[in-house]
Amino acid sequence: MAYTVTLIPGDGIGPEVTEATRRVIDATGVEIEWEIQEAGGDVMNRYGTPLPQTTLDSIKKNKVALKGPITTPVGTGFRSVNVQLRQSLDLFANYRPAKTIPGVSSRYDDVDLIVVRENTEGLYSGLEHIVVPGVVESLRVITEKASERIVRFAFETALKYKRRKVTAVHKANILKLSDGLYLEVARRIARNYPDIQFEESIVDATAMKLVMDPQAFDVLVMENLFGDIISDLTSGLVGGLGMAPSANIGESYSVFEAVHGSAPDIAGKGVANPSALILSGALMLHHLGEVAAAERMEQAVRRVVAEGTRTTRDLGGESNTREYVEALLEVL
Ligand code: NAI
Ligand code: MG
Repeated sequence: MAYTVTLIPGDGIGPEVTEATRRVIDATGVEIEWEIQEAGGDVMNRYGTPLPQTTLDSIKKNKVALKGPITTPVGTGFRSVNVQLRQSLDLFANYRPAKTIPGVSSRYDDVDLIVVRENTEGLYSGLEHIVVPGVVESLRVITEKASERIVRFAFETALKYKRRKVTAVHKANILKLSDGLYLEVARRIARNYPDIQFEESIVDATAMKLVMDPQAFDVLVMENLFGDIISDLTSGLVGGLGMAPSANIGESYSVFEAVHGSAPDIAGKGVANPSALILSGALMLHHLGEVAAAERMEQAVRRVVAEGTRTTRDLGGESNTREYVEALLEVL
């Protein structure tokens, strides 16, 4: 069966890592017709919007997209395309597994956890205003509806991947109303999943425990900003951004992308590590039901990385992006 998938190369190292990923996915034999679409600063200059309607329409038609990183101007300029995509396609769940990859140097050799981040509200609602000069307010929106569906998603993920425990991460001791609501919802949903252990953990203590004893965690679920920070921490536990995949999932659409950004410092040099997007591509194949191909792709990355020398320099190897992809294709 052939699939049509929207491919957004993005900018910075985006075109390099998306091209690498596309070659690896094509080599699995899963037939995908790639529909290439633009987004980001270049497009902004030409069309007056960083996220053209044609790009959104393509994702809506195909239901699935693979996306390279897109540079976001800091402080001023257009709103993050990533946040806009999540909100306009209602991609309410951000799924970020952190699993040790042998051969990648890191502090632990047996981390295997999943961070589920709420993707549509919290402090990313984009509701900021100047109250009086010198005083700015940002609204952190927590709703019962979004809390319910993200916690349910976490439990369904736990079921699907045969996980034992879900930890609801919160700050309800201080944010009594907003995180109080979130926690109340989490407890209620947890009762529907008697076979999965449920645990609550305050966010700051969670950060400490993750650094000291990451093996104590399994699936963690939390609101947007906590998820942003904690998932970068967990990617650091398994060797950093070069290996961290993610999936943005909604009821109708899904967008797969690396956790890392556009890496302007190495863009265009052909040395970027495409593993994070390739592993995101494996999550995508999983999502399409191509489980065997997804596992072969993940195994290929694990094998080449474990061998060492044929990986990219950020992993201690000697290869550029293209040579590393050749090694993956050989294994595949
Ligand atoms: P970054 O992730 O782009 O880079 C951080 C550091 O990690 C840099 O030294 C970079 O060279 C290195 N790095 C990242 N990915 C790598 C890879 N695949 N291979 C080898 N080295 C890699 O984060 P930064 O610099 O904070 O952000 C750059 C831009 O990307 C910003 O405009 C930011 O807003 C945007 N961004 C976009 C995201 C997205 O499209 N989903 C996510 C995160 C950031
Ligand atoms: Mg982030």
